[in-house]
Amino acid sequence: MAKTKTVFICQNCGHKHPKWQGRCDSCGEWNTLVEEIVEAVKRSFSGSVSSVSPVPLASADISKVERVPSGFSEFDRVLGGGIVPGSAILLAGEPGIGKSTMLLQMALKMAGTDKKLLYVAGEESVGQIKMRADRIGPGKSGENILLLAETSAEQSASFFDDVDAVVIDSIQAMSSGDLASAPGNVAQVRQCAAIFIERAKRLHIPVFLVGHVTKSGAIAGPKVLEHAVDVVLTIEGDRQSELRLLRSTKNRFGATGEIGVFSMAETGFIEVENPSAAFLGHHDKPVPGSVVFAGMEGVRPLFVEIQALAAPAAYGPPQRVVQGLDQRRIILLAAILEKRAGIPLSRQDLFVNVIGGVNLDERSADLAVILAIVSSFRDIPIDNGTAVLGEVGLTGELRRAPRTLPRLKEATRLGFSRIIMPDSREKLPTIKDIITTKVKDIFGAFNAVF
Ligand SMILES: Nc1ncnc2c1ncn2[C@@H]1O[C@H](COP(=O)(O)OP(=O)(O)OP(=O)(O)O)[C@@H](O)[C@H]1O
Ligand SMILES: [Mg+2]
Repeated sequence: MAKTKTVFICQNCGHKHPKWQGRCDSCGEWNTLVEEIVEAVKRSFSGSVSSVSPVPLASADISKVERVPSGFSEFDRVLGGGIVPGSAILLAGEPGIGKSTMLLQMALKMAGTDKKLLYVAGEESVGQIKMRADRIGPGKSGENILLLAETSAEQSASFFDDVDAVVIDSIQAMSSGDLASAPGNVAQVRQCAAIFIERAKRLHIPVFLVGHVTKSGAIAGPKVLEHAVDVVLTIEGDRQSELRLLRSTKNRFGATGEIGVFSMAETGFIEVENPSAAFLGHHDKPVPGSVVFAGMEGVRPLFVEIQALAAPAAYGPPQRVVQGLDQRRIILLAAILEKRAGIPLSRQDLFVNVIGGVNLDERSADLAVILAIVSSFRDIPIDNGTAVLGEVGLTGELRRAPRTLPRLKEATRLGFSRIIMPDSREKLPTIKDIITTKVKDIFGAFNAVF
């Protein structure tokens, strides 16, 4: 096959270079060159006849959006009700979090319903995958799963014809013969994904792409692919704990924000039916610095414990070590506490953790963080039958939180006796066994708990 012509284009200024070099000649930026294929196609409108023609919206064919169940109900829910044939789904996550396990388990479940799958292993040997399959699905027949240990994108794509779904593990391990750069490189990742997606769309089968991310999400892969795929799923969780969250951050066929909760066991992923209970720490008696946040993830309530530790800074500038929340938000909340409530946090190291490895991006977690910090600073525990929610504004006021009713119901279900929340205008029905304390600002919340 004739080598395609490629150039190296600076991602900063767009200057073209015939060879790779560390620094762009034009703008002087380092490490910005990415190999790209030169397309020799002339794009002219004159005389070109398109093979497709516009159709009225009213008569557009939607029969193609029929969903195929994966056999994993949590997985299907995150996808918006099943797998859409012809869709490209990126499964991203840190190394070792369980990406291969999840997709192999799904493949085994789908194979059990007479679907035929192709599993392209770019990183592991066929033997390694067989071992994993025996561990997570002992006794399951692997007749319908074809394993292919291959790193060439073109070769792999040539086996897509007779299967119902394809798994590429991982996109960073694949390379296209059209490019000279190493696998995992931005250009390679993009090109290989384009090959797989184009082929899968033509054959109308779903393709799952595994993509690695590092803690900072910096490595080429998921970020450069997000726009090219239909669905982006991420697995998150604390590797020390067995809980894993599957989250969709982009979905062309359903709502995002849905999460699936799994626990990682010897036999693979097990769906967790009562996520809040799994995420809550079990304290026999109240402890300072621990507060339960009445959160929502998608349409489901998820209660999590937020822990804070305020300790005098021994030397240097005080530290803000945060896990599971936005660090800048914690700095802001600490500043609000310092300025509005006169709590001298500028000489305190602050550590704030969300238990269970969940990443919270809901602003309503603010009040829980503030109460946890104050509870630790003053060394006064908060009653462990209390859950809180509310976004805190710069003046210390509390903003209304969305969807309070499902949170209240979850609180009763989990046996909480009190919920502290912003003064919402929403008419709430009286719920048995639970006291709702509505507060206007952080001082109201302090009075209610301390
Ligand atoms: N025998 C076992 N029992 C329980 N858990 C196991 C066992 N073997 C492996 N695991 C879990 O599986 C995880 C690895 O899963 P998997 O290989 O699916 O992750 P991955 O995200 O594909 O990783 P990679 O980035 O290396 O491809 C390990 O981190 C471990 O937690
Ligand atoms: Mg893997």
